[in-house]
Amino acid sequence: MTQNLYRLIYLSQNTILGSNENVHKEIEQILTISRQRNAASGITGALMFNQECFAQVLEGMHDDIQETFERIQCDPRHGDVVVLDFEPVDARRFSQWSMGYIGYDTLASKEFTQIQLATGFDVKQLSGERIYDLLHVHLYAAEKAGSNLEKIA
Ligand SMILES: Cc1cc2nc3c(=O)[nH]c(=O)nc-3n(C[C@H](O)[C@H](O)[C@H](O)COP(=O)(O)O)c2cc1C
Repeated sequence: MTQNLYRLIYLSQNTILGSNENVHKEIEQILTISRQRNAASGITGALMFNQECFAQVLEGMHDDIQETFERIQCDPRHGDVVVLDFEPVDARRFSQWSMGYIGYDTLASKEFTQIQLATGFDVKQLSGERIYDLLHVHLYAAEKAGSNLEKIA
């Protein structure tokens, strides 16, 4: 096991108001800053958005994740942040992505909504592992299909 390697998985409620265009612009900004800051702190991961909610995976050293997550939690663009998992892992599964992204008009985000519906939107019934797998499978599929996902340089 790589010493001190952790993953954190959380869900939160989108609080970005306004038109789709405005939401899109804010998310672009989130991704730009995330990719810069995460690459500098050795953090990899993925973000998924389905209009209502965000789901995010962060992988990295314990203290780097903690420092990044403290910033993320204070961000007014989302609220009701619930951590599903914060635990040591053997290896990274998102090593190519400083922050891969799955947007709301994708199959994955629809599947994410289905999972939420099936649990009656009760986050206590949501498995972090399931969200982790969903993000992983769909990011690799998008990459294989030649989708324009930004990778670590
Ligand atoms: C849903 C969501 C996910 C975010 N993910 C990250 C991330 O992975 N890394 C990061 O540095 N900032 C992320 N941010 C942005 C941070 O909240 C923050 O705005 C940014 O890191 C700049 O922080 P600063 O202004 O305190 O320097 C995210 C914000 C939101 C709303």
